[in-house]
Amino acid sequence: MSKMEVKTSLLDNMIGVGDMVLLEPLSEETFIDNLQKRFSHNEIYTYIGSVVISMNPYRSLPIYTADKVEEYRNRNFYELSPHIYALSDEAYRSLRDQDKDQCILITGESGAGKTEASKLVMSYVAAVCGKGHEVNKVKEQLLQSNPVLEAFGNAKTVRNDNSSRFGKYMDIEFDFKGDPLGGVISNYLLEKSRVVKQPRGERNFHIFYQLLSGASEDMLKKLKLGRDFSKYNYLSLDSATVNGLDDAANFRTVRNAMQIVGFLEDEVQSVLELVAAVLKLGNIEFKPESRANGFDESRVKDKNDLKEMCELLGIEQLVLERAFSFRTVEAKMEKVSTTLNVAQAYYARDALAKNLYSRMFSWLVNRINESIKAKTKARKKVMGVLDIYGFEIFEDNSFEQFIINYCNEKLQQIFIELTLREEQEEYVREGIEWTNIEYFNNAIICELIENNQNGILAMLDEECLRPGTVTDETFLDKLNTVCAEHQHFESRLSKNSKFLTDHSLPHNCFRIQHYAGKVLYQVEGFVDKNNDLLYRDLSQAMYKANHSLMKLLFPEGNPAKVNLKRPPTAGFQFKASVGTLMRNLQTKNPNYIRCIKPNDKKAAQVFSESLVSHQVRYLGLMENVRVRRAGYAFRQAYEPCLERYKMLCKQTWPHWKDLARKGVEVLLKDLKVPEEEFSYGRSKIFIRNPRTLFFLEERRRQCLEDLATLIQKIYRGWKRRTHFLLLKKSQVVVAAWYRRYAQQQKYQKIKSSTIVVQSFIRGWKARKILRELKYQKRCKEAVTTIAAYWHGMQVRREYRKFFRANAGKKIYDFTIQKIMQKYFFDLKNTMPSMSPIDKSWPARPFLFLEGTHQQLRSIFHLWRCKQYRDQFTEEKKAIYEEKLEASKLFKDKKALYPSSVGQPFKGDYLDINKNPKYQKLNIVMDEKLLLADVINKVNRANGKGASRIFLLTKKNFVLADQKTGQVKASIPLPDLSSVSVSSHNDGFFALKLKQGTASAAKGDFLLSSDRLIEIITKLHRTGAASSDREPLSVDISDEFLVQFKQDKVCVKFVQGGPKNGNSVTCKRKNNRLLEVSVPPP
Ligand SMILES: Nc1ncnc2c1ncn2[C@@H]1O[C@H](COP(=O)(O)OP(=O)(O)OP(=O)(O)O)[C@@H](O)[C@H]1O
Ligand SMILES: [Mg+2]
Repeated sequence: MSKMEVKTSLLDNMIGVGDMVLLEPLSEETFIDNLQKRFSHNEIYTYIGSVVISMNPYRSLPIYTADKVEEYRNRNFYELSPHIYALSDEAYRSLRDQDKDQCILITGESGAGKTEASKLVMSYVAAVCGKGHEVNKVKEQLLQSNPVLEAFGNAKTVRNDNSSRFGKYMDIEFDFKGDPLGGVISNYLLEKSRVVKQPRGERNFHIFYQLLSGASEDMLKKLKLGRDFSKYNYLSLDSATVNGLDDAANFRTVRNAMQIVGFLEDEVQSVLELVAAVLKLGNIEFKPESRANGFDESRVKDKNDLKEMCELLGIEQLVLERAFSFRTVEAKMEKVSTTLNVAQAYYARDALAKNLYSRMFSWLVNRINESIKAKTKARKKVMGVLDIYGFEIFEDNSFEQFIINYCNEKLQQIFIELTLREEQEEYVREGIEWTNIEYFNNAIICELIENNQNGILAMLDEECLRPGTVTDETFLDKLNTVCAEHQHFESRLSKNSKFLTDHSLPHNCFRIQHYAGKVLYQVEGFVDKNNDLLYRDLSQAMYKANHSLMKLLFPEGNPAKVNLKRPPTAGFQFKASVGTLMRNLQTKNPNYIRCIKPNDKKAAQVFSESLVSHQVRYLGLMENVRVRRAGYAFRQAYEPCLERYKMLCKQTWPHWKDLARKGVEVLLKDLKVPEEEFSYGRSKIFIRNPRTLFFLEERRRQCLEDLATLIQKIYRGWKRRTHFLLLKKSQVVVAAWYRRYAQQQKYQKIKSSTIVVQSFIRGWKARKILRELKYQKRCKEAVTTIAAYWHGMQVRREYRKFFRANAGKKIYDFTIQKIMQKYFFDLKNTMPSMSPIDKSWPARPFLFLEGTHQQLRSIFHLWRCKQYRDQFTEEKKAIYEEKLEASKLFKDKKALYPSSVGQPFKGDYLDINKNPKYQKLNIVMDEKLLLADVINKVNRANGKGASRIFLLTKKNFVLADQKTGQVKASIPLPDLSSVSVSSHNDGFFALKLKQGTASAAKGDFLLSSDRLIEIITKLHRTGAASSDREPLSVDISDEFLVQFKQDKVCVKFVQGGPKNGNSVTCKRKNNRLLEVSVPPP
């Protein structure tokens, strides 16, 4: 078992107690209560130490699955809840590993589940033992022997639909590894009376019904049978079919099983022929026929069945017919033939049928044995399984019950013997002092039955063999005399007077106090059944049959081997076989399965207390418990014991380092268990009282609760702690990662800032260095350059004359020079005229000369103008100055001006000095004359003109009569305030005098002259030339006022129509208006 595997115990989750040894207090009542309690929870198995009590559940429980097999496999007996598998496993392992032959004794009353239990044991062993082709074949043959034997040996009874009507002991043989090799089956006491007669509600053996329902028509024909059960006397009719039993299907199963077991086809056929023969035999009927001697002789009534039977078995019909009518008795070498009456004939017929069937059954068992026997001679390990009737106590108990109960007494005896022996051996092994165990030893009862001198069976044989009249009554008499003293024998007629008045004991009965209880036997039939007679004529007839199997079954019919000795009685045979069986069992390690039937109704979940207590009593289960408990109720190896209870003591919990035994000692001392309650064996602790065990169990249960709480507490704590630690760890990881991340970010920032700062500083430094270096480099380069230039210059200077390179510059200069030369020459030739107004100028020959060309042009122009001006005389200059003045005054203001431009300002048009006419005027003219001309003076009254001479000097102007030369008016120039003219092409102008002056008294002058421009210009110049007064202002307007004496007259210039022609007319319109009509331009 691995360390981690949880160690379980029978004591875990027990319903009631799993082991009756632990029952406290022990009484039949508590025993049955415990069984009932467990049964109601479907716990059908309970232990008494190593004995398994099995209750028939009457329904299929899910406790025989492959999983269950695995669960119980290789586990210790007390480790799991009670189970037939635990016992099988224990037996098998002890056989395989410790080389101990085993026997499994299954007892219990009919229908208690013995056969099922034996099959469960076999199937468990088959499941856990070795595998392989050969092994599997053997297993299969062993398992398949069951259906064959059940078909021929089982029948429906009132107690059990599949009741085994024979006792069976099977030895399964294994090799050294524990693989099955084969087996040997022994059968005991087939209930052959069933062949000819069945109690009410019961059936004959299954095979009859199976054959009739399952065989093919063809086969039935061959066997000369019909399907109808009712045709056969031996088949009772009232329960021919059984619920839940499919005879036809079972027939197929049986045939198949026979094939697997190894029956040959004709063997099967022979067996079926015998079965058919039995049925036919049952149908033979007899009728009386009176004989001469007065006795009745029997005759076969209807010979048809007889004939068919003889055909079937190959018997001569007459021989058989005769055997049913006569009986040959041989005595002292003499053969005496007596006739049989009808009753005797029927007796003979039934005896033949019973014998035929039971011998066939024995042959079947032998045949199976032949098939399944181990093929090797090597030593074998053996596991025996005994499935035999349990104790039987019916209302009418006969020879069979007596025999069976005898068998059970023997079984009980070896149980006691072996249990005690085992117990004792264990005590010796464990070094425990042997204390005498009080128990009932049934040896005395066995002695009563089997004693060779005065045992009941010996008495019976004696009676049977005694000459003279022998009846059941004589047998009882004999018992009464011989066994009367025996304390377990009771009979009314015995000498022991105490039963004389016991009315529960009829006269033809005797009573035996079996270990399981008292049983009353009726003596009727004892002698007959013990004799078990078959007339020799019949066996000889059978031997003569032309049927090999038949011949084999009746060897005593062989006339060559006539044996006058009586065949052994049934009782004798049985005793012998029980003896063999017991000897066989005694060499083996026994394992007990005690089957109990919970109710009579074959119903699930019904627990009949009276029925169970009855069985408990006669199975001697209480006795079993007592024997088991006589010394120590409970024992357990130290290791598992310590393992189970170590939590009850501080020193042993949780680990005990020293030997387990010492641990247990410490534990028990600590728990203050009284010393008489236990003993220390070599490997086991022995506990005397179940009380102590339950005390330990109870303490353990409490402790487990505490421990569970503790484990829960620790587990919860652990779980929360691990969870917390995980969280913490995770938190640390997260924090670490986060910090790392944050620091990384920070670092990256610092780093990049540092890099920036660094790069700036480096840059700055580098630039500084660079600048310096550049400066140094420049300095160096400058020095170099200067040096180079200087050198160059030096060299050039020295070598210039030798270089053509200068030629370019020279050529360039030369070309430029030439171009310039040509330009100037060309310019000289194409020079425009010297007229300042000449606008022409030669075209520019080269773009680069643009500036020069324009500059030359303006220089030339200025120079030309200067040349032009330089040729003027002073007079001419003055004239032009005047002309310029006139231009300033009138250009674009007066229409008359352009016509004046071409006329030179002559000034003196009258040649005053030379003309004597104007001698007088010279006097007036003390100063240089500036202008002298004839003009028109406009009459103020009508506008008509009058010619006058107009003279102008630097100081004044004079108006004189043209004809006379008489001065009409001399006006100093400073008295003039302004001159008004029109803008038109007329010569009118008004000289306005300053108000208040002497000259102003006569009023303003309105004059007209063609040389108006010259006059006004000269007037203006004169004014401007003198520094003491303002220059005369000239108003140009087409409407102006003229002061005539007191009146102001408006002079208005209008555009004259075409009819006026080119003349200017002046008309006085009214006092105030003088209209001057001028020609259109
Ligand atoms: N463990 C079991 N689980 C389910 N049913 C069971 C069990 N044991 C017995 N039975 C039922 O009880 C019936 C009788 O059992 P079984 O034939 O084994 O009795 P038996 O003790 O052999 O009787 P007999 O002495 O008449 O042969 C079975 O046919 C089956 O229906
Ligand atoms: Mg059975």
